[in-house]
Order: sequence, then C-alpha cells, then structure tokens
Amino acid sequence: MCGIVGYVGENNATPFLLKGLKRLEYRGYDSSGIAVLGEEIGCVKEVGKIEKLEEEVSKNELKGSIGIGHSRWATHGGVTEENAHPHWDCEKNIFVVHNGIVENYKEIKNKLIKRGHKFVSDTDTEVIAHLIEHFFKGDLESAVKKALRIIKGTYGLVVIAKKDPGKMVAARMFSPLVISVNDKGSFVASDPSAIITHSKKMIFLEDGDVAVIQKDNFVISDIKEKIKEREEVTLDWDIEDSQKNGYPHFMIKEIAEQPESITNSMRGRIVLEEGSAKLGGLELVEEELKNTKKISIIACGTSYYAGITGKYLIEEFSGVPVEVSLASEFRYRKKVIEKDETFIFISQSGETADTLAALQEVKKKDVLTLGIVNAVGSSIARETDAGVYNHAGPEIGVASTKAFTSQVVVLSLIALFLGRQRNLSLEEGKEVANTLLSLPSLVSEILKDDSEIKEVAEKYKDFKNFFFIGRRYGYPASLEGSLKLKEISYIHSEGYPAGELKHGPIALIDESFPTVAICLSNSVYEKMVSNVEEIKARNGRVIVLANRDKKDVKELTEDVIYLPTAPEFVSPVLAVVCFQLFSYYVSVSLGRDPDKPRNLAKSVTVE
Ligand code: G6P
Repeated sequence: MCGIVGYVGENNATPFLLKGLKRLEYRGYDSSGIAVLGEEIGCVKEVGKIEKLEEEVSKNELKGSIGIGHSRWATHGGVTEENAHPHWDCEKNIFVVHNGIVENYKEIKNKLIKRGHKFVSDTDTEVIAHLIEHFFKGDLESAVKKALRIIKGTYGLVVIAKKDPGKMVAARMFSPLVISVNDKGSFVASDPSAIITHSKKMIFLEDGDVAVIQKDNFVISDIKEKIKEREEVTLDWDIEDSQKNGYPHFMIKEIAEQPESITNSMRGRIVLEEGSAKLGGLELVEEELKNTKKISIIACGTSYYAGITGKYLIEEFSGVPVEVSLASEFRYRKKVIEKDETFIFISQSGETADTLAALQEVKKKDVLTLGIVNAVGSSIARETDAGVYNHAGPEIGVASTKAFTSQVVVLSLIALFLGRQRNLSLEEGKEVANTLLSLPSLVSEILKDDSEIKEVAEKYKDFKNFFFIGRRYGYPASLEGSLKLKEISYIHSEGYPAGELKHGPIALIDESFPTVAICLSNSVYEKMVSNVEEIKARNGRVIVLANRDKKDVKELTEDVIYLPTAPEFVSPVLAVVCFQLFSYYVSVSLGRDPDKPRNLAKSVTVE
C-alpha cells in the first residue's frame, strides 16, 4: 500500500524524505512525491521509481526544514503525476499526503465544487486538502479536526500549511502512523521502516488520534481536543525486519494481514439494508449484467482457483451458469462465445501475459469484459470494459495469499449483486452480507492461535507426496492448498475433488502418501467422511480440517486442524488461510525461503 514520511526540524527535509520513501519501496508503489516548506512550498511528483523523483528534485532545489513525502499505490484515479501525492488546495497553502480511502469523497467534492473549489486530480485525497482549506483560519490543527469530522473512511494523513509553519498535523483512522523524535528533529511515517535509522523509539498513533508535531515535541489529542498519552515503544528491528513489520517473511506478514485486506476489499461495498453489494466499478454495466445469460471466468494460477470458487458462488446465489477457463488454454481454444455472455478476468498483477492475451481475444467479440484486479491502472484493469479492484494492497510474497482471499471476497460480492438482481430474496441477501462482514473476525480467530497447524506441519514436513481433497466449495480450496504447498516447499502435491479419488488417484495411497481432507460441518460432510474412511482402509494417513462441533472427527484421525464454524460459502477462505499457514510452516521448517520460491515469478508477463 501507499507510504508516508514527514519531517520537521533544523535540517533540510528533502534528504530525509527521499531516504524514507526509498525504505518504503518494498511496499510497492507506482508514483511518488514530496512537498517541502521553506520560504515557499515546493512540490515535486513523478510517476515510476523513486530514482526519477530524486532526479527531478535535484533539478528543483527543494529546501526547507519541514516536508512530507508519499509513495502511491493507486486506488482512486489512474497512475499519473496529477494523481500522485502530495495534494494541495486552491491557494497552494495546504499540502496533504494520505493513505486510505475517503468513502464520501464524491459528496464532499461536489459541495466544494459548488463553492468554487477547483480540482486537478481524480483522487479522494485532494478533497481532504480543499476541505481543510474551507475551514482554515490560520490554525492548521483546528482546520484539520473540523475536516475530519466530515470525512468518512480510513486515513493516515499528514498535512503542512505555508500559513501555519513550523509543524505537521498527522491523523490516523485505520491506517497506521508512527512518530519518532531525535536531536535532528521529529519524524512521522506510515511504517517504522521509513524512519527507524533515526531512532528506534517510536510512538504509534491510535485510531482517532490527531498529532501536532513540531521540531522537538508533539502533542496528541482527539478531534474533541482531549489530550491522549501514548506510550513510547523501542523497536529492536533492523531495516530488513522493519520492512516486514517484525515478521520473518513477507508471506507470513501477508497471511496475517488478511483480516485487514478482506475488510478493505469489502469497504463501502456492502449495503446491509438492501441485502446487496454496491460495486462502483460495475455501476455503468448494471443493465448488461442483469441481462447476461452466462459468465465465463478466465485466469491463471491462484487466481484461477479463486475463479472456480467464484463459479460455485455465482451459480448458488444468482443461478447464472459459469464456465471457468485457464487463460493459457482459452487463448488458443476454438471459442464458442455466446450472445449476452459476460467475461470476468481475474488477476492480482493485472499483467499476466496469458490472461491479457485471452482478454484481447475476447475483445474481438461484442461481449462485456470485466476485471477483478489488485494492481490499479494495470493492463487488464485498463483494457476491460469495467471491473472491481481488490484493494488488498501490494503482495510481495511470490506465492499468492491475501490476493486469493480478496478475490474470493470480491467474487462473493459480485455473486450477491447478481443474485439480488435476480431471485435472491432480501432476507437471503442480508444473511450473505452479514456472513461476509463476519469474515475478517473468523480469519482473525484462525490467526490468533496457529499452534495446531504448526504442530501438524512439523509432523508431516518430511513426506514426499500429498493429496488435498474436498467437495463443492472444498474442491477449489483443496486445489489452492495443494498449489501453496508445492510452490513454497517443493513437495509433490495434488488437489482433487474428493469424489474423483476412487477413479484412479487412490491407487497411490499408502502410509507414505498423506491426504489433507476438508471435512467441515456442511452439506458434504458425510460424503467427505466416507472418503476419509476409504483412504484409511488403504493405510493412508489423513489430516482433517474440521469444525469443533463435529466430535466424531477425532475418531477419524489424530491430526485435526480446527477452524471456526461458518456458512459453507465462506469456507474456502477459512480453509485456504489454514493451508497457507500449513505450507508456510512446512517450507520454513525445511529451510526453504517461502518469499522467493525457486523457478517462480510473481508476475508472469511472458507466455
Ligand atoms: C504467477 C504467480 C501466482 C499467480 C499467477 C497469476 O504464477 O506466482 O501466485 O497466481 O501468476 O497471477 P495474476 O497476477 O494474474 O493473479
């Protein structure tokens, strides 16, 4: 996600800001910028690498002892210099950097336009600068607090003003900010890694905090002026660690981020009272979606398995038939494309060569193309007619984790929306919506204590072959579980629909070939138990994924991984989180590097 850094002190702010932004590069970004306040405020922004920003800054002589910087991962508006941060007001007095999403930005923007404000970008952040300008009477803190009373959504933001110099005002709501002070001045950042070289002593802001930061002190209060005391924490991190937020690998950091990334994927998109989903990116094609008779999903790798999950979801909630294809096969297949067919392309990177080529093939026909993409402004996002962004934040680990769960959540929202356009009742819709809203806390429950999963991983790490089996929603989950294990541990593994085992694969079962079976309390529980019995009858070892309410599971095997009970349609997310952890622990205990598995690339832009 985006990164923030800010400085106020005795020295020139520019080198601190540039160094800080470089340390945030690992988070992924598409553009960056800094604003520095000396006699005047100077601002430089660039699309692309921080090196380009550095080059531009060196030509501009930005000097001043207060400054803010930002690296942007686009959410609202394409990747352009105008949309990069910092953003400013009409008078070029107030400069803002912001992480997060202002949900009511359109409403605020329209009101401000009526009052004569002129906007130059498509971002939600620019609205913050103008709203602060609207309230500014010489005191930046008070203007920021008034603006925050109106803003709905999430923010970590830092503001400076030419007409109230000597300070930065920082505010946090669901998007982290940390302050640090040393003898050179005060620093603020979205992530300790940007400023940890200056001091290891950090003060983490909490939601609702507003901090006024000066060169040798800071005061934290809430928007009602109540002073807040925040404890200083000393971080025992080196730079590499701090980029991973204290986690040993990006993969486990990203696994742990899923309650947050799932929340971000759903934010502002569930309309509980209507038992439906509101997907801004699909607004213009709602009528076409209502009339669509068939959906085809096209993707590669993990995104393809999210696509199979999407088939079950869309067919269950809306009754629209869905076909799922691997992009590498689809692009060369003889295509029978039907009238009123809608195509959905799923891709974390938005750049996968096969998926893009399949999209280009489909675009030759007169059909609707949609994208489910994480990387804003990427090729697939640009070339589809409409789509939904994941907002899962950048994924660094090569083996996809939070992108998968986010893709499944977005597909659930699309399925709910299509269902409500058709026969899904209000009550059923509300149930689905409520279940989705509970998903982040269900995932947190798994993450809170993963000791069982770690133990099982340790016990099974030396086996050379695995099956992962499941039925219905458990089928794509088993495919993804199996892929995770082979990607990062190099253990041979196959994902299978449990019912297919008897048609061949069961011949491989013996005591050296364990099976991971998804036996959750749902419509296929009994069938799954029968499959497990069949495996045991052939001396096969079984690891079972189960809910605690099924006491008899313990009689099946001693190796059980428990997960929270939830409606069947969210079980792929919960099961896959368990599999991500299982694969991660196997990989680490075998001494592999889960972040950089051999032979694999994060974004496969060649055929
Ligand atoms: C590569 C990655 C996978 C990913 C697949 C599709 O193989 O290693 O993790 O699932 O590409 O990528 P996409 O960006 O299109 O989702």
